[in-house]
Amino acid sequence: MGASAKRQRVAVVMGSDSDWPVMKRAVEELEAFGVDCHAQVVSAHRTPELLAEFGREARNRGFACIIAGAGGAAHLPGMLAAFTTVPVLGVPVPSRYLKGQDSLLSIVQMPRGVPVATFAIGEAGAANAALFAVALLAHGDEALARKLDDFRARQSESVHAMTLPPKED
Ligand code: RP5
Repeated sequence: MGASAKRQRVAVVMGSDSDWPVMKRAVEELEAFGVDCHAQVVSAHRTPELLAEFGREARNRGFACIIAGAGGAAHLPGMLAAFTTVPVLGVPVPSRYLKGQDSLLSIVQMPRGVPVATFAIGEAGAANAALFAVALLAHGDEALARKLDDFRARQSESVHAMTLPPKED
């Protein structure tokens, strides 16, 4: 199967291209694990029809999960979850005035019945959402599970190698 025909197993969507500097951390992490993804801007309040279409088609397109990042009122993850039962992993993007606390509360406070898994504000949340997606996909994929174990082992080694005071660059 050629690269272009590779199945895109995870969708990474965001409310604006201004979210890209944060959300690219999710794409980079998925790529590091060899997980192919589809990245797209879908705005809940500016392109509601596109959001509905994307949500309705998500399962047919074979996405194992959707990583959705948005800032401010941040309706994107919750509204996508309303249109699909494909798991939605929400990433609160830092906002200009409230530094992403608005995004976090908007995403995490889903009323009972339509869940959105919510991650930390910003780059750490985007990277962790991708790692969580990898963990979901690793269920039933031994090679991916080994990659995840290796990643954790390398991360631990880097801490064991730390000395104080920290080396200066
Ligand atoms: C949200 O509004 C986006 O997710 C973004 O975080 C924020 C600002 O969007 P832009 O004005 O930069 O397009 O919908």
